[in-house]
Amino acid sequence: MTDAVVARGLVKTFATPAEEVHVLRGADLLAAPGTLTCLFGASGSGKTTLISILAGLLTADGGSVELLGADCTTLKDAEYAHLRLTRIGVVFQDHNLIMQFTAKENIALPLVAQGLTPAEADTEAMRCLELVSLGELANRMPAEMSGGQRQRVGVARAIAGHKSLLLADEPTGSLDQTTTRALFATLRSLAGEHGITVLLGTHDPGAADVADQSFDLADGRLVPHVAH
Ligand SMILES: Nc1ncnc2c1ncn2[C@@H]1O[C@H](COP(=O)(O)OP(=O)(O)OP(=O)(O)O)[C@@H](O)[C@H]1O
Ligand SMILES: [Mg+2]
Repeated sequence: MTDAVVARGLVKTFATPAEEVHVLRGADLLAAPGTLTCLFGASGSGKTTLISILAGLLTADGGSVELLGADCTTLKDAEYAHLRLTRIGVVFQDHNLIMQFTAKENIALPLVAQGLTPAEADTEAMRCLELVSLGELANRMPAEMSGGQRQRVGVARAIAGHKSLLLADEPTGSLDQTTTRALFATLRSLAGEHGITVLLGTHDPGAADVADQSFDLADGRLVPHVAH
């Protein structure tokens, strides 16, 4: 089966007034469909840079990216945006929920903006909330939820619309250990039971326990993760 993520030889250098920062120096990554991949690495090693390149939010200086069978290397910004909108979910450390909307509305309203009817959007929002075990809190406002619950709403929103790939950059960065474990379990089930390919950038060593494969970003490349 074709890998869901095929990144080869990714190179990225940031130029600052003082120096050039060679963040990625030929990073390779393969991820099979429906697997959970963890990306570890010291702060500043390039996890966010790599995830942002895969998400199409940053352009690499060299190398190639194929996602879900699509050659992304030559995509124009608008085409990458369309791929994201239809097939790739992205979650960052901050959940970015709209505080004036309920959990369900946060998921459903963007779907309506994409052309679903309100009834269709509602059904899809509930399906995704149930996937992250939050069906019962659908009508809560974000302020009435815990940080971990809000993060799970963010995950539900990211995968709404039957996304096949979820890119998550430190989604548990602001959560306690118990809540972090629950979110990892959610990501594990999205990958294993629902066939979503998940890439998780994290500092939490426990993530390796739920992953199908884990890598460390070191000197600009991905190497098999070594538990510390
Ligand atoms: N826009 C930019 N301009 C210059 N340097 C940058 C820029 N963005 C990131 N960097 C540098 O690139 C390196 C990698 O940053 P990145 O955010 O990818 O690391 P990270 O592994 O996600 O770190 P953390 O674990 O702290 O989130 C860092 O040295 C950072 O200072
Ligand atoms: Mg980062």
